[in-house]
Amino acid sequence: MAQRPVLIAIDGPAGAGKSATAREVAVRLGLPYLDTGAMYRAVALLAARAGLGAELDAAGREAVVELARRLDVRFLGDPRNLRVAVEGEDVTGALRAPEVSRMASVVSAIPEVRREMVRRQRELAALAGGVVEGRDIGTVVFPDATLKVFLTAAPEVRAQRRFDELSARGVVARWESVAAEQRERDLRDSTRPDSPLKPADGAVIVDSSRLSLAEVVDAVVALLPPTP
Ligand code: DC
Repeated sequence: MAQRPVLIAIDGPAGAGKSATAREVAVRLGLPYLDTGAMYRAVALLAARAGLGAELDAAGREAVVELARRLDVRFLGDPRNLRVAVEGEDVTGALRAPEVSRMASVVSAIPEVRREMVRRQRELAALAGGVVEGRDIGTVVFPDATLKVFLTAAPEVRAQRRFDELSARGVVARWESVAAEQRERDLRDSTRPDSPLKPADGAVIVDSSRLSLAEVVDAVVALLPPTP
């Protein structure tokens, strides 16, 4: 019987260290890496460029759904130097802007947008497997994943990480507003009716508050069941 490809689902709130962990686990195991948040961010970027704001009326929602259906997003390069291209334009940096983060949380609550992204994510990772990072990977996209990890950390640790990440990119922000933005986003992501953020059945909860990146990566790799 053909063996199923190895698929590792990493879900969790913003700032838990999902991206860094998923990238390093992918490199360690020689697996593809899929950042599903970047797909929602790409829809958000296009919506913002189309002049749509966070308060969407019915027409606005329909416009966002149409953008999601027509989305041309590509991932280029290896996991450590991943670039995201939308319609051929490198938008890797633009996707991290605070207003895009906020809008991504809004557009990702629209069920038709989710349906479209989930369909694409399954297509992308079904063949070769991979390390797939997001909010609903273990609960909805790949409930049969080889390993499901729910990566979390204390709220103040997560806010500090986001703050440091923004500072490193030269973005001037107040610590309080970064923490408040994150609280608002986490609340929206975990209370939306469609695919709320929560640990999947069978997921292993890893708290990264007091662990280094290398320790988290070791912990995730050690959780992989032995290949038969
Ligand atoms: O992981 P991230 O911060 O790049 O995600 C951006 C937004 O997209 C976040 O508000 C949650 C949402 N998202 C989601 O709903 N489902 C996913 N699988 C990935 C991200």
